[in-house]
Amino acid sequence: MLIQPTEKNDDNDDIVQWVRNGIAVRVFGEAADASNSVAAEIASLIRQRADDGEQCILGLATGSTPVRVYRELIRLHREENLSMKNVVTFNLDEYFPMKPNAAQSYVRFMNEQLFDHVDISPDNIHIPDGTVTPDRVTEYCQQYEDAIDTAGGIDLQLLGIGRTGHVGFNEPGSEQASTTRLVRLCEITRTDAAKDFGGLEKTPQLAITMGVGTILRSRRIRLLAFGEHKSAIVERSVQGAISDSVPATYLHDHGNVEFVLDSAAASKLNPSTADVSH
Ligand code: PGA
Repeated sequence: MLIQPTEKNDDNDDIVQWVRNGIAVRVFGEAADASNSVAAEIASLIRQRADDGEQCILGLATGSTPVRVYRELIRLHREENLSMKNVVTFNLDEYFPMKPNAAQSYVRFMNEQLFDHVDISPDNIHIPDGTVTPDRVTEYCQQYEDAIDTAGGIDLQLLGIGRTGHVGFNEPGSEQASTTRLVRLCEITRTDAAKDFGGLEKTPQLAITMGVGTILRSRRIRLLAFGEHKSAIVERSVQGAISDSVPATYLHDHGNVEFVLDSAAASKLNPSTADVSH
């Protein structure tokens, strides 16, 4: 059954949304509005859990895409009394090897972009450790999985998407049931990262990433993509068949996934192919 995209009836009157392959697609005119919407959802979940005396378990992402979400969470903390004392975080990935104080480390990124500016307890922050010795990586990755389970599982996982279709650093060829592990990065991913490392030859070959299966165990998944350069992979991820050649297609099966896009990232999608089968 086909449906037309629906105008959402709330404060953001420029949202268009529809469902395709089980993915709720939400398109905003501007990345800033999309980011604020996701930050508002996260803040609401944190407050709801706090009211119930519970922790809120967030899966967090790095890269340029989520920066505005973090900026808005910081604003909500400063100006609207949002506390993150009850928040436990698990980041998706880290380059390997990587020292936490290195300029490109995701530990440093998260501190600078979010954690240093809110009241989260340092004990509640988990980021894959890029300093683990190679002989301990497998054991370490299992401990990361166990820590997520012990915390009660991830309530909301934030994702970006790479031009390869990776989520976290689950590159093409990743299995649906994969768990946290050491992976080899694709050339496209390394090329996109090379500017941060001062050239491709200095860009890491490896990373530790949560697996596709780890991500799929999250109760809600919100994938953000902004800009025309993401439009082709967004189109393949939403409208293509499930395939290990585009790992983001594994999200079709999840049941509570939204792709939150700006109009440029959504420009190759075809809303008239929407379905309501999920
Ligand atoms: P970006 O990276 O947010 O910097 O575009 C996204 C990703 O590779 O997952």
